Amino acid sequence: MKTTGGTDDQKRRAGERAAELVADGDVVGLGTGSTAAHAIRAIGRRVADGLDVRGVPTSFDARALAREAGVPVCSLDEVDRIDVAIDGADQLDGDLAAIKGGGAAHAREKVVDAAAERFAVVADPTKVVETLSRSIPVEVLPDARAAVERDVAALDGEPTLRRAERKDGPVVTDNGNVVLDCDFGAVTDPAALSTALSGVPGVVEHGLFVGLVDEVYVGTEDGVDVRSRD
Ligand code: A5P
Repeated sequence: MKTTGGTDDQKRRAGERAAELVADGDVVGLGTGSTAAHAIRAIGRRVADGLDVRGVPTSFDARALAREAGVPVCSLDEVDRIDVAIDGADQLDGDLAAIKGGGAAHAREKVVDAAAERFAVVADPTKVVETLSRSIPVEVLPDARAAVERDVAALDGEPTLRRAERKDGPVVTDNGNVVLDCDFGAVTDPAALSTALSGVPGVVEHGLFVGLVDEVYVGTEDGVDVRSRD
């Protein structure tokens, strides 16, 4: 399920450029994944140079990396605001609707990213598409799995329980839940599907991010393309 497209250089350019958004005194949402990791490392280097920030990690991995990089961390309920969040995406369309959750971190990511005054996505060019079409990760209470599968099928989706690697059984999220990767084919109306999935009992959170992304930093071979919501 985890995306592998794009080069590390493209991801690094995107992450390092977005890290420049962070100002002294900011509270920063720290995203999950290989592209957001570059932003966390770049923020860590700025902290070493004297930048005063606090980071709110979106996952176990983001927290561990932030600590390693020297970024002071705290939890969402310890802060009264998030100035900027920097996070990756698995797919993005021209309206800046995104699919996230390739690393099963989308529930905490959505809470942190949505709470931010400014939410910047960092990505490589393979993530940018005309129409969203990847399977949508849906985090589900374990006891509700069968019921949610039926409701997803009723929405014309095809759910597949995400299975763990090097462990028998499913992926278990940082929140103790399971993930259904739900194939809806081409997602022509992300807002409607987002609303429908949010209304399914047992769904903790899904990976469609609609109307949340303010700007996108796409790392290329020789620079960074910046796109903003109009
Ligand atoms: C984590 O669950 C995801 O939402 C990631 O942010 C997304 O998979 C992007 O990761 P990469 O930057 O590693 O592609």
